Amino acid sequence: MDTAIRKWRIEDAANLAELLNNKNILSNLRDGLPYPYTVKDAEEYINAMLSADSETTFAFAITANDKVVGSIGVFRCDNIHFRTAEMGYYVGEPYWGKGIGTNAVKQACNYVFSSTDIIRIFAEPFAYNSASCRVLEKAGFQYEGLLRKNAVKNGEIIDMKMYSIIKPQI
Ligand SMILES: CC(C)(COP(=O)(O)OP(=O)(O)OC[C@H]1O[C@@H](n2cnc3c(N)ncnc32)[C@H](O)[C@@H]1OP(=O)(O)O)[C@@H](O)C(=O)NCCC(=O)NCCS
Repeated sequence: MDTAIRKWRIEDAANLAELLNNKNILSNLRDGLPYPYTVKDAEEYINAMLSADSETTFAFAITANDKVVGSIGVFRCDNIHFRTAEMGYYVGEPYWGKGIGTNAVKQACNYVFSSTDIIRIFAEPFAYNSASCRVLEKAGFQYEGLLRKNAVKNGEIIDMKMYSIIKPQI
């Protein structure tokens, strides 16, 4: 399967809405996304990403054989952390387990490290999200530690894990 990342297009909205209307995805993400997630919600997200500050927001559709199958974003932090960025991603459930998430994480890191001055990218999966932890490990991220009782998700107090990757030759 030919997987890639590319800039969002407004015509991806219907596809994106279909992927995100899934509690198995939403329950592994931060709160704030509506459920059900409509095409209008998807259009608003895509428009926000296309008009965002290109120095701080690096947002991509994940594609497989040219079809949108997921989303990945790298977001620059501020203040003394301005050379650090947080990564978030998801892949539509029908496409899980095919290496798509891992390829997307590698490609997004390559883009950010080769096109910006960012030197550290981190991700904070929920501790029980073994698939996401595995993706990060396969993409070269290092596990830095457990963030104990760091969030409340679906009414449960949960641990998270800190993973990061550092720009080569720093
Ligand atoms: C996490 C996610 C992006 C993974 O995408 P993907 O395309 O399936 O990832 P890959 O196929 O590249 O790799 C998945 C790995 O996790 C492993 N895995 C899957 N479920 C697992 C589980 N329950 N326990 C342990 N490992 C698991 C797979 O076996 C595979 O590892 P392997 O190649 O060593 O066999 C996808 O499951 C997803 O979108 N989940 C919901 C949203 C989410 O969790 N986003 C990340 C928030 S931090």
